[in-house]
Amino acid sequence: MTIAGNLAEIRARIARAAERAGRDPGGVRLVAVSKTHPAATVREALAAGQVDFGENYVQELREKAAELPEARWHCIGRLQSNKVKYLAPWIALIHTVDSVSLGEEIEKRAATAGRVIPVLAQINVALQEEKNGCPPAEAAALLRALRALPHLELRGLMTMPPFWEAERVRPFFAELRRLRDRLQDDLGAPAPELSMGMSADFEAAVEEGATLVRVGTAIFGAR
Ligand SMILES: Cc1ncc(COP(=O)(O)O)c(C=O)c1O
Repeated sequence: MTIAGNLAEIRARIARAAERAGRDPGGVRLVAVSKTHPAATVREALAAGQVDFGENYVQELREKAAELPEARWHCIGRLQSNKVKYLAPWIALIHTVDSVSLGEEIEKRAATAGRVIPVLAQINVALQEEKNGCPPAEAAALLRALRALPHLELRGLMTMPPFWEAERVRPFFAELRRLRDRLQDDLGAPAPELSMGMSADFEAAVEEGATLVRVGTAIFGAR
C-alpha cells in the first residue's frame, strides 16, 4: 500500500465509524503521526491531501516544521517547559498540557510571540502511573486555570489510554467524553475537542466521540 492509499483507507474507516455512531464524519480530524519518518514521507502525505501532522519530540517537530511550514503541526508528546519557546510562534495545537505551570509557560511564550495558542488538557483517564496527564479528579481545577490564561485557547481534552485492544480501551474513551461534557458545563464555555484513538483503536474512539484521532503506524508503517 502507498501512503496515499493508506490515508484513503483510514479516512474511509473514520467515516464509517462516524456514521455508525450517527455522527458527521466531517467532525473528525485525522492527525497523521509522522514521528521517526523523514520529511520526504510527510511530503508524500501532504501531496495526498493530509494537512495535520503530529510529532512527539520537540527537536524532530522543529526540524520538520521548518522544512514543511505548509503542514499544520501538532505537539502530541510530553512537553517540557523549557522547550515551549521553540514551538510558540507556529504550533497549531498542543495536545499535552497537563499542569498549570506548563500552561503558564505557554501563556508567556504565546504573549511574546503575539498569538493565542490552541491547547488541549491531557487527562490520565486510566490513572496509569507511568502515563502523563492530569488525574480526572483534578481536571476541573486545571481547566479553570488554563481558561484564565488570555493567550491560550482551551479547545478540549486529550488522552492516551493503555496499549490494550480497542474494546478494552473503549471505556476510557467514553469516560473522556463524559468528563468533557461535565467540564464544559462546569466552565460554562465550549471546549468540545476530544483527541483520542490511535492506529489500533481509532474506530472505537470515533464511535465514542473523538474529534481528533492520532494515527501513525496505519498510515506510515511500523516505526
Ligand atoms: C500520543 C500519541 N498518539 C498517537 C500515536 C500514534 O500511534 P500509532 O502509531 O499506534 O498510530 C503515538 C505514537 O507514538 C503517540 O505517542
